[in-house]
Amino acid sequence: MGAPPNGLITQQVIEAMNPKAGVSVSTAADGSGAGANLQESVAGLRRPQKSLPCKYFYDERGSRLFEEICGLEEYYLTRAEMGILDARAGEMAEALGADCALIEYGSSSARKALPLLERMERPAAFVPVDISMHHLERVAQEIGERLPGLAVHPVCADFSLPFALPHLNGRAARRAGFFPGSTIGNLTRKEALQFFRRVAQACGAGGGLLVGVDLMKDVRRLEAAYNDRRGATAAFNLNILSVLNRELGADFRPGLFRHRARFNPAESRIEMHLVSTAAHAVRVGGVEVRFEAGETIHTENCHKYTLGDFAALAAQGGLEVRKVWTDPARLFSLQYLEAAEG
Ligand code: TRP
Repeated sequence: MGAPPNGLITQQVIEAMNPKAGVSVSTAADGSGAGANLQESVAGLRRPQKSLPCKYFYDERGSRLFEEICGLEEYYLTRAEMGILDARAGEMAEALGADCALIEYGSSSARKALPLLERMERPAAFVPVDISMHHLERVAQEIGERLPGLAVHPVCADFSLPFALPHLNGRAARRAGFFPGSTIGNLTRKEALQFFRRVAQACGAGGGLLVGVDLMKDVRRLEAAYNDRRGATAAFNLNILSVLNRELGADFRPGLFRHRARFNPAESRIEMHLVSTAAHAVRVGGVEVRFEAGETIHTENCHKYTLGDFAALAAQGGLEVRKVWTDPARLFSLQYLEAAEG
């Protein structure tokens, strides 16, 4: 089945798929979740260091390539995180507490929330939030099949912007955010603080956040994870140009660009770039964008934290790290945060 056009799927479609759960989808009023935004893209391409918003990676092909990345030998993140979840979901469920509504930010599959929801005591609701209606459909269907009694309220929205939470039944004693996959690492520190504030607002007093954080480690290991031998990451990075061609009528020639992922020690992050191999010009929505040979488009950051760095960042955002779970090799962590008291 192809992805339905974003934002166009109706509530009835989801209900037809999952009649018993009574699932209904909320869509952000600004229609976010809809395709690439011309102004935002052109503005990024006009800066001295050209950049593109990373959310455009995830069209149907991009999502497939990302799935492939998650299974790569070099890409330790997903394996490590799933290992921690499988071994420690019971403890995480305990930290979340009984009658908790779980809000997942960026829910492209059910596999991470499921082990948690299965172990939570009387989970009050599950709210998957994703930019892709296609992902939401699948997630709602799978959770509905595995946990038929659970109230599922999908929200189709870009979680980097404010969005309204659906009205949850009064049964939720508390709310907690779930943000796996080290997506927090794709935010700058400033954006991460903004995200913490939004979650605190959405989850209210006593709310929590369970977040996946990739840990600082040997630079060769880090760079290998983003430069796989099969070239899946390169294809994923280059795919953003095809998305702009299709959605904005741009005329990028992906063959003129090369994938580059390097660790930037000053910022403690892997930086993903697309390097132009020749001087040339591209048209994006009627605007000409010129490239020098060797000039790059910055497409993504993947920040790597020590446990201390991350605790300090959380504290700056008014959150306190209450629990940390890691794999035996300490590659990755899941951390439970709560609003600091006072
Ligand atoms: N959250 C993932 C990460 O930081 C995203 C990611 C993995 C990614 N590989 C990528 C983003 C390649 C852009 C390009 O690891």
